[in-house]
Parts: sequence; C-alpha cells; structure tokens
Amino acid sequence: MFDKTEARVVKAAFLPPALAKRLDETCTLADWELLDEAERQTAAENARVLAVNGESVITAEFIAQFPKLELIADFGVGYDGIDVAAAHARGIAVTNTPGVLTDDVADMAMGLLLATSRQIVEAQRFVERGEWAKGGFTWTKKVSGGKLGIAGMGRIGQAIARRASGFDMVISYTDRQPIAGLPYAFAADLKTLASEVDFLIICVNGGEKTRALVDAEILTALGADGILINIARGTVVDETALIAALDAGTIAGAGLDVFEREPEVPAALYGRPNVVVTPHMASATHATRKAMGDLVFDNVAAHFSGEALITPVTP
Ligand code: DGY
Repeated sequence: MFDKTEARVVKAAFLPPALAKRLDETCTLADWELLDEAERQTAAENARVLAVNGESVITAEFIAQFPKLELIADFGVGYDGIDVAAAHARGIAVTNTPGVLTDDVADMAMGLLLATSRQIVEAQRFVERGEWAKGGFTWTKKVSGGKLGIAGMGRIGQAIARRASGFDMVISYTDRQPIAGLPYAFAADLKTLASEVDFLIICVNGGEKTRALVDAEILTALGADGILINIARGTVVDETALIAALDAGTIAGAGLDVFEREPEVPAALYGRPNVVVTPHMASATHATRKAMGDLVFDNVAAHFSGEALITPVTP
C-alpha cells in the first residue's frame, strides 16, 4: 500500500486503541505523550502526519514545530481547536470525520432533551433516595408537540429535526441563511429563534465566531419555560450567564454534553433537578467510534498512497 518507513505519523492526542494499533502496524508511529524532549524534536522534524482528536488544541506555534508536516488527521467532526488557517497557509491538509457520527450525536441531543425536560436523572435520584413512598415525583415538562429551535442546521441539526418530527414537535431553525428544501421555519437570528421556542438545541460549530453566542440575552429570550440543550461545543454557551439564569429561574433547565473547560464542569451545575450533564460523549458508541477510527485511518492511508483525501476540511 505505502512504505511504512516513509509514513511517519505523530499521535498527539488520545485515539482509540484499535486505530492507534492500525497506525502502528502500517506507519512509523510516535506517541507525543510518551516522548522526552529530544525524542519529540526528532519526531516533529520528521513527521508527515499529525493524528489528533476533536478536543485537541493545535495552535500555529505547535504546527510550526513540524517542518515536514503534510496532513493533520482529526478523530472528530469538530476542528475548532485546530488552527486550520495556519495549516492551510503552509499547504498542510486537515481531515475530520463528518457524517459517521451524525446519528449518534442527534440521538444524544434527543436523549438530553428528554432527560432534562422529564427530569429522568432526578427521578432516578428520587427513587434511590427512597422518596417515592412519601409521595409521587414532581410533574415535568411535556416534550411531544412542543416548539423546538435548532441553532445550526447542518447534518446534525437536520438529523435532530428528523427525530423531533417523530415527537410531533414544531421545528424552526437558524443558520447563516435559509436552507433550500427544508420544511421548517427559518428564524433570522438566534434571539428571535430563542424567543419563539420551548426547547433550543445548539448545533453550531465551535470557534471564535460562535464563542459565547448563547449569552444572557439569548437565555432571557428563551425564557422561564425554556430548555437549553448543547451538544456542540462548550465555548458556544456563556457558562456564567447560564448558571445565573438557572439560579434566577429565567430558564427552565439545561442538558449539556459539552463545557467551556473540559473536563472541568462547574460544580454549580451539579445536583440540580433541571440540569443534566454528560461527559462529551455524544458520538461515543462502539460502532461510531470504530467508524470514526476507520475514516481517520483511510484518510491517512489515502494521503500516503498519493490518493485524494476522503474528508478534507475545506479552507
Ligand atoms: C467531535 O467529533 O467533534 C466530537 O465532539 C468529539 O470531539
């Protein structure tokens, strides 16, 4: 397929063991975490491919250490942590893993929406605390037929909309512009969308353009009956504003799979009946993580074989 000695890869983040094994068997693989300073320098001088994941922070300075770098292969759909502009400016390609994780992330969004609105996690705590015998659980917020707003109507947003249609939800969305052929109402901006819906799911890309997009103003627009779900990136939500809104009861609840400073989760979000937190696991099913690993490998193999990349990130 390609010459193993020429196929020099640096693994600079956690990758599933099966993918790391495949890379190790077919390429000359160095694990950044396991190298000392001198070994890192040698590995960086020679590497042609850098394998990272969706949570990696790959700055222009980091990339500059790799003079022969040709490709950054991202195990993840999100690449907001990678300075893609700096990579492209040096002619370094970037690949990610779109498509294969869409269904799982959409499933998780619906799971969080249901768990938060129907207080499923709190209901389990209630049973475990032995409180059922003292009286029934509190009544919760109805999901079916509710108004759902989706911020960011890419693959994942559309997959959520298809699922929510099965719950007879009335769906509207916002994006840079209306998307042709979609049977959902378009809102011109996020504030308008938030003010019109019962549930707001955040699906936009991370990065500087969307940092703190969901701020106090958007939360106020969502309102005291509104539920916020974030399966995108933690940076998109102003966590301080969110905690203040939860404290003040100006929103009804939040289901969050992502956080500003992962793996740190603000303790102020713990133990609330109306908040569900999960550890950035929306795409973490066995089948999907395997498919993501296969796609990373296929991109790396295509690169070393001189073939077209399968899922390049376009400038
Ligand atoms: C992704 O694929 O970007 C997921 O969020 C995991 O990082």
